[in-house]
Amino acid sequence: MEQPSLPDVFDPRIHAAGPPHDAFRALRDRAPVAWQEEPALLGWPAGPGFWAVTRHADVVRVLKDPGTYSSWLGATQIRDPDPADLPFIRRMMLNQDPPDHGRLRRTVSRALTPGRIGRFEATARVRARRLLLAAREAGGTTDLVGAVTDEYALLNLTDLLGVPAADRDLLHTWTERVIAYQDPDEPPVLDARGNPVNPRSPAMLAEMFAYARDLAAHKRKHPADDLMTALATGGLDDPEREMFFFLLTVAGNDTVRSAAPGGVLALAADPGERRRFWRGEVDTATAVEELLRAHPPVLSFRRTAARAAELAGTRIAAGDKVVVFHGSANHDERVFADPHRLDLGRRPNPHVSFGDGPHVCLGAHFARLQLRLFYEELRAVCGEVELAGPPRRLVSNFINGLKTLPVRLPAP
Ligand code: HEM
Repeated sequence: MEQPSLPDVFDPRIHAAGPPHDAFRALRDRAPVAWQEEPALLGWPAGPGFWAVTRHADVVRVLKDPGTYSSWLGATQIRDPDPADLPFIRRMMLNQDPPDHGRLRRTVSRALTPGRIGRFEATARVRARRLLLAAREAGGTTDLVGAVTDEYALLNLTDLLGVPAADRDLLHTWTERVIAYQDPDEPPVLDARGNPVNPRSPAMLAEMFAYARDLAAHKRKHPADDLMTALATGGLDDPEREMFFFLLTVAGNDTVRSAAPGGVLALAADPGERRRFWRGEVDTATAVEELLRAHPPVLSFRRTAARAAELAGTRIAAGDKVVVFHGSANHDERVFADPHRLDLGRRPNPHVSFGDGPHVCLGAHFARLQLRLFYEELRAVCGEVELAGPPRRLVSNFINGLKTLPVRLPAP
């Protein structure tokens, strides 16, 4: 297990300084399955350490083999859950393995059809246009995150779920609590003994669950063409529905909130590709994939070895934590030619930003739709976006979040 001189990719502050591409490359080349220490930091206690998986082929292998690399045993976050919370956390499909996972996934997929998603297109397009126009007309330097992309992602999600738009701030607060728990702007909630409370524990989620219950009751009386109506009327029991509401609130929100400004950051930083994009020389759907490759909203997902295994020549013991790093796999030179060059026409583009295997993102269709519309409207409403300063990044080893992105949005 001793690999002393290998770079650290655990500390969330490293990711907040920008993607640690040099560290990832060193790991891919020298130790594609590398032991990482998990010291106490940012108010959170130490953990037992984990294996960091950084090559594309190995990331895909882990994600496609739930029999060896379980989502259920220790759930899917790097930090170990409190053992007392595990049964609760395992009610979420994200934290299950086949075959149980398949039952929940099939039920939910039936409610998340491309047909239902497609019905949001017109509204999302108008929304993107309205937000971008308002930001452009304000003139000067704009924070794209605060003025446009946070609101865009949140309101699209409220449409899908059937949450009243006026309650979007609640969704925002709940997401921040779960996602930003390592960030100094979001200080941890402490228990009676002064220890930080895990944001995914039942205590921290009670308010959100009560909301999901009330919303489901409301939808039974007032059905509408939305996901909560579909889920309130078939297939899931109450705890499953509440957990799914939680999963969607976080998975469907923070990821798009990261992808939209992250894509603009990548675009604005590359004048050649930016020009090609604004001249309409690239297919937007293809460009969306490349921008997701360059800026993966999810930094890592965790599995736990269900049995002893060997990965890239490294022996992994049953019970070890195994963590895949999507941003590293997306820049693996074994798969992507010139991986640090932004190529908006890149095809094929087997990035893993949506994961792979049985848990591959269930909202990918909705995410792609939102991003395509956002970039199409950006090009229609604004001229070439210019960066007006560096972004402020979320302190997290899970979500590649941008807290602010100062830009200038000229008229076309
Ligand atoms: C660009 C945006 C998005 C990215 C990059 C993304 C990424 C991911 C990734 C990497 C996973 C796999 C988790 C794992 O391996 O354990 C996942 C799962 C999931 N995502 Fe997304 N996601 C995005 C948007 C969305 C949206 C908009 C929704 C819903 C509206 C959504 C719903 C889900 C759900 C329900 C799962 C769990 C699937 C399962 O456990 O079978 N995601 N997502």
